[in-house]
Amino acid sequence: MNLYDRIPNNVNLSEDKKLQRALEKWLPNYLDWWREMGPEGFQEKDVWLRTAIDVGSEGWAHFDYVKMPDYRWGIFLEPAQPDAKVGFGDNYGRTAYQEVPGEFRNSLRRIIVTQGDTEPASVEQQRQLGKTCPSLYDLRNLFQVNVEEGRHLWAMVYLLHGYFGRDGRDEADDLLARRSGNVDKPRILEAFNQPCDDWLNFFAFTMFTDRDGKYQLSALAESGFEPLARTCRFMLTEEAHHMFVGDTGLGRVTRRTAQLMKEGDVRELGGIPLEIIQKYINFWFSYSLDLFGGEISSNSADFFAAGLKGRYKEQEQYAEHTAANEIFNMTVVEDGQLKSREVPLRNALNEVLRTEYVKDCEKGLARWNKVLADEGRSERLYLPHPRFHRHVGEYAGHSFDIEGNLISKEDFERRKAEWLPTIEDREYVRSLMHPVYEVGKIANWIAPPAAGIKGKPFDFEYVRL
Ligand SMILES: [Fe+2]
Ligand SMILES: [Fe+2]
Repeated sequence: MNLYDRIPNNVNLSEDKKLQRALEKWLPNYLDWWREMGPEGFQEKDVWLRTAIDVGSEGWAHFDYVKMPDYRWGIFLEPAQPDAKVGFGDNYGRTAYQEVPGEFRNSLRRIIVTQGDTEPASVEQQRQLGKTCPSLYDLRNLFQVNVEEGRHLWAMVYLLHGYFGRDGRDEADDLLARRSGNVDKPRILEAFNQPCDDWLNFFAFTMFTDRDGKYQLSALAESGFEPLARTCRFMLTEEAHHMFVGDTGLGRVTRRTAQLMKEGDVRELGGIPLEIIQKYINFWFSYSLDLFGGEISSNSADFFAAGLKGRYKEQEQYAEHTAANEIFNMTVVEDGQLKSREVPLRNALNEVLRTEYVKDCEKGLARWNKVLADEGRSERLYLPHPRFHRHVGEYAGHSFDIEGNLISKEDFERRKAEWLPTIEDREYVRSLMHPVYEVGKIANWIAPPAAGIKGKPFDFEYVRL
């Protein structure tokens, strides 16, 4: 573990002078990007953050006050498995790839760049949120997510620099050049170009979009390209906190709304009506489903065949790892109707991963509905049908209602204000967003958390302003 190097790492960077020099050249560009596009207005403040210092399950993180530009972004891979094997696909059982196999070079680079691009994108999307935080606890959690997305970018840039030569270095530079929501140089995936400018958006984003990250990283943690698998395994450790922030964040908003419903009109009382929470769920869930890619995909088949991207818990959950002759029944749109079509399983792996993701999201919904029940309410939140409001894959270009029934485009346009946040909804939510910077205080539209971070109380000074 080289913790006190300019770039903390557990990959013996100092023994690879060429790579070290390349990354040390990239470092100031990264810091320039962070200053320009990272959280606005808080760069000089002390924030009580966790920093990854090890990869062991015990004590992998250190908590202390740090100014964000001084955060120790490092490169940490889970330890190599002796005689690791390719765990699935056509090369199942062969020795895992320690270098990039020539024939898979373009596919792998594309996978790594696409993953890498999401990391800085979300920091850009969230950069204004500090100015309207509901509490210091939430402010700290926002910044924790932000610095770790920065570290995830480092994780991918390490692979690009270390394994892809000149192309990799160019791609690493481009990761700092694209901008979320920019018309000329947007981020690669659409969910990462959507504005995330209020805290309800933030909680829905970390619940649903970071959770897509969990599933992508889990599929890559199975990869036969070992450096990628090892880096993704460690990223998953950090990702868990991001989803916790979203899951508990929406749970706390729901609790407060339920409490206000008992007192009177939620709007008059300055809360967020349940219908608006539901619409934000519909919006971010549907955009996050798109991130899994097309339902029927030759890329998914190629990535699996090559041993690059596996299924969720490929080793644990499956007995057969080639998925070569299996069939998947997919619902498709044909002649204006929903029909069932048989597709080779390998071509349906995006859908298989998406299904795992939906199951996981359902658990979040169950937790929020338990909050509603605990507060004595009979209303329930739900997930829209996965066909609803899709922009990628089989269902893009068709219109569906919230239950997944095929409807006309006109019907959709007429009813979409029932299902998706309107400009008025967004303006209303924004009108509630006033910063609460006092230690131990919290905004009116959200309930306090059940506990603080790492044994600290809620009224701990998580950020020194
Ligand atoms: Fe990430
Ligand atoms: Fe994340």
